[in-house]
Amino acid sequence: MAGPLFRAPILWATGLPFVRRLAQEGGLVRRVALRFVAGETLGDGIRVARTLNARGIAAMLDHLGENVASPEQASAAADAYVLALKRIQEERLSDANISIKLTQLGLDVSGATCLENAARVLEVAGSTLVMIDMEASAYTERTLSSYRALRKRYSNVGVCVQAYLHRSAGDVRELAREGATVRVCKGAYLEPPSKRSDVDRNFARLSATLLSAGSPVHLATHDPRLIEGARRFVEQRGIPRERFEFHMLYGIRRDLQERLAAEGYRVRTYIPYGDKWYPYLTRRLAERPANVWFFVTNLLRRSG
Ligand code: FDA
Repeated sequence: MAGPLFRAPILWATGLPFVRRLAQEGGLVRRVALRFVAGETLGDGIRVARTLNARGIAAMLDHLGENVASPEQASAAADAYVLALKRIQEERLSDANISIKLTQLGLDVSGATCLENAARVLEVAGSTLVMIDMEASAYTERTLSSYRALRKRYSNVGVCVQAYLHRSAGDVRELAREGATVRVCKGAYLEPPSKRSDVDRNFARLSATLLSAGSPVHLATHDPRLIEGARRFVEQRGIPRERFEFHMLYGIRRDLQERLAAEGYRVRTYIPYGDKWYPYLTRRLAERPANVWFFVTNLLRRSG
């Protein structure tokens, strides 16, 4: 994770309208994005999922998009997920599910619009798990209450919590009591800075609370120290491997994903696809200054 010193300016600069425009117009930056994104179509996502499944790695498809402003856009995003679920079923992928963002399904339009769209997706999903991503902290409360409203009607839904938020310890205790399926991640949005070591410690604590409670846990990190810590924790306590999965992002630490899978751990790769890749790309850049250099040189080549 880039320190707070880097993350805020990177997210700020890449959010500037002219940088955004320049980046999205150019084929070169699109190529940078393709390091982290399977491609612009559902077919691209399915192709990557199939390849990973063949290597013993499970897949989680993410149709890119967020913060839609109209009911029509929100409904179109739900349609895209319905299509993805149908393709997963038709293609008989051995292990694939999906992850959604509530602002993509209309949370900024209204809570009711968002719930209606999410319910439509969950209905089609059947027994396939649908995870809810956690977005910026302005949405945390509404995301958790929407998750709870959906969980009353559907058992195949889970939610993400972010270790960089102080509130997550309390949220995780509640979620563990409720038997929720929870993804633990460090957090990728523009928030007041927190010390890297505090975030790491909190990630380990949140994971330990959930693992000890017997909740199904998704440990979403590429951090080798946290992964090693989790392995030691489950081994010492005899927690079965079916209770948790290691989750990583497409394009990051493929070597580690394959190694863990070869050692018999359940590993799942989060596979984003679609043409709304820009905000997702900026978060991946902000995590690692080296990625920014790659981005800037591509941008300069385009504008020069
Ligand atoms: P950290 O950033 O410390 O990275 C550890 C190592 O991983 C680095 O040293 C490097 O080797 C590699 N690495 C990490 N990021 C990289 C990058 N961008 N490029 C190249 N190498 C990189 N966040 C959120 O706020 N809401 C959410 O819903 C989710 N969902 C989610 C799902 C899954 C499956 C994952 C893996 C992650 C998320 N995240 C997320 C993102 C998460 O919050 C976090 O920003 C990233 O995972 C990076 O943090 P790490 O835990 O990997 O540690």
